[in-house]
Amino acid sequence: MHNIKAIIFDLDGVLVDTAKYHYLAWKRLAQELNIEFSIEDNERLKGVSRMNSLEIILEIGNITLDDDTKIKLAEKKNIWYVEYISKLTPADILPGVIDFIESIKANGLKIALGSASKNSMLILTNLKLTDYFDAIIDGTKVSSAKPNPEVFLKGALELNIPPCQCIVFEDAQAGIDAAINAGMYCIGIGSKNRLKKANLVLSGFSNMTFDKLGL
Ligand code: BG6
Ligand code: MG
Repeated sequence: MHNIKAIIFDLDGVLVDTAKYHYLAWKRLAQELNIEFSIEDNERLKGVSRMNSLEIILEIGNITLDDDTKIKLAEKKNIWYVEYISKLTPADILPGVIDFIESIKANGLKIALGSASKNSMLILTNLKLTDYFDAIIDGTKVSSAKPNPEVFLKGALELNIPPCQCIVFEDAQAGIDAAINAGMYCIGIGSKNRLKKANLVLSGFSNMTFDKLGL
C-alpha cells in the first residue's frame, strides 16, 4: 500500500481500554433486570452502539421492552459508565499509543477519530489526546452504527482525503467490517484469531511506529 495520507483511530479498545467499564455498568443493569451477563457476553458489545448493546443484553435475557423503557435503561447505564470514565487520566492511554501518534505526525499524515461512542469527547479530554486529532467523528455525529461505514467516510471527508488513502485501526469485528465497507485498509488491534477480516493484525502499539508498518 502506498500514498497513505490519513490514519483513523477507533477509540475504545484501541487508544484506551474502556471495555471493563462498559462491562461493569452493563452488568449492574443486567443484575437489576435479573439477566445473567458474563464477560464473554461483553465481547459481543465491542464496537456496537449503546442501544444495540442494550438490545443484545435484552435478547440474552429473553426480555422485550417498549422503546421509552429502553431509552431510560440505556441512560441509566450511561450514568454509571460516565462515573468510571470521569476518572480516566493520560496514564490510561494504552502502551505505545503516544509514540505511534507522534510518528504519524512526523510523517505528515492527518489523524481522525472514528468512534461509536457518544462519550468520546469526555474520554479524549481526560486522556489529554484531543489536540492530536484533525477530525473527530463520534457517536453524536453519525446516524448509522458500525458495520455501516458512515463514521469512517465522514472522517475521510472532513480530512479531505480519499478513503483509499486512509488506514483504520480497529479492535472490534463490527469496526473492521465498517472499515472494509468504507474501502479502507484496516489494521486490527488484538488477536489474529478473532480479527480475521483485518488486512493486518497487531497485538498493540508497543514499540510500533508508522515506518515499521512498512506500508
Ligand atoms: C464503542 C464501544 O466504542 O462505543 C461499545 O466499543 C459502546 O462497547 C459504543 O457500546 C457506544 O459507546 P457510548 O459511550 O456512546 O455508550
Ligand atoms: Mg473499539
